[in-house]
Amino acid sequence: MVNMNVNLGGLFMKNPVTTASGTFAAGMEFADFVNVGDLGAVTTKGVSLHGWEGNDAPRIAETASGMLNSIGLQNPGVAHLKDVELPWLAEQGARIIVNVSGHSIEEYREVIYALEDTPADAYEVNVSCPNVDAGGMTMGCDPALVSKVVETCRQATLKPLIVKLTPNVTDITEIAKAAVAAGADALSLINTLLGMAIDAHTRRPKLARVVGGLSGPAIKPVALRMVWECYKVTSVPILGMGGIATAEDAVEFMLAGATAVAVGTANFTNPHASIHVVRGIERYCREHGVEDVNELVGGLLC
Ligand SMILES: Cc1cc2nc3c(=O)[nH]c(=O)nc-3n(C[C@H](O)[C@H](O)[C@H](O)COP(=O)(O)O)c2cc1C
Repeated sequence: MVNMNVNLGGLFMKNPVTTASGTFAAGMEFADFVNVGDLGAVTTKGVSLHGWEGNDAPRIAETASGMLNSIGLQNPGVAHLKDVELPWLAEQGARIIVNVSGHSIEEYREVIYALEDTPADAYEVNVSCPNVDAGGMTMGCDPALVSKVVETCRQATLKPLIVKLTPNVTDITEIAKAAVAAGADALSLINTLLGMAIDAHTRRPKLARVVGGLSGPAIKPVALRMVWECYKVTSVPILGMGGIATAEDAVEFMLAGATAVAVGTANFTNPHASIHVVRGIERYCREHGVEDVNELVGGLLC
């Protein structure tokens, strides 16, 4: 028997695998493929106080080893999540991480307040949102703004607070340290990398907004590097993601320092991917004489 339990900053998970926000909705559409209660947790699509329509189409473009998206945090708002998705997830026995987004610092706080009396087990605060109070600048690029967002969220809840970092910065460790100092119980990384795609024949961008976020296997080496960098300088557990499609990918993230991992874009090509990763990690541990999956965390030999 392999111990698969992990503790992600106070969130106890039966195994180290969750879904990456925005790639699994709240799991209902995946119910034919995955028993969500068998995952370590389900991370829901980013939710804001009121519904957002998202960006104009086209907002998805395929690239050589991943996809570009400019969905723009489309969601029906926190009331819908409370009324429909969270009760369903609770019924399935799933651990629930709610991904929280906001146009302003106050909106993050309001979303958390609205969720305090729900079965949400933890919050993942997405600091990659544009701040309308600062001309649309991405909050997660500025350590001072990240501190403010995290402090505000920390004051709003005692539930585990996972802060999700953007890779679109020069030094991710500066942002990671600011988030931890402001009260983050865990960090999650990485969000998508900014990119663009062009159709040579029409000379037009493939996304209506021109620029979008790149995800999938293409970003795995960048994500691994950033997890490893953050692991070396912070004391809180890390939820690693970026291009994970197989158990071997997940083990690599754990060796780089991740306590848990999220399966994202892979869900679109293989709806069984998340549960396959759970079973594959357990198999890896058995084959390598690892009795406790936590032994893998930070186990990189170099
Ligand atoms: C279509 C799509 C929607 C996403 N929506 C969110 C979101 O609402 N909140 C968030 O924090 N990250 C969002 N992400 C980022 C993913 O959660 C993840 O960080 C990123 O895709 C890297 O992992 P992957 O390469 O395994 O997909 C989204 C990604 C995709 C592809």
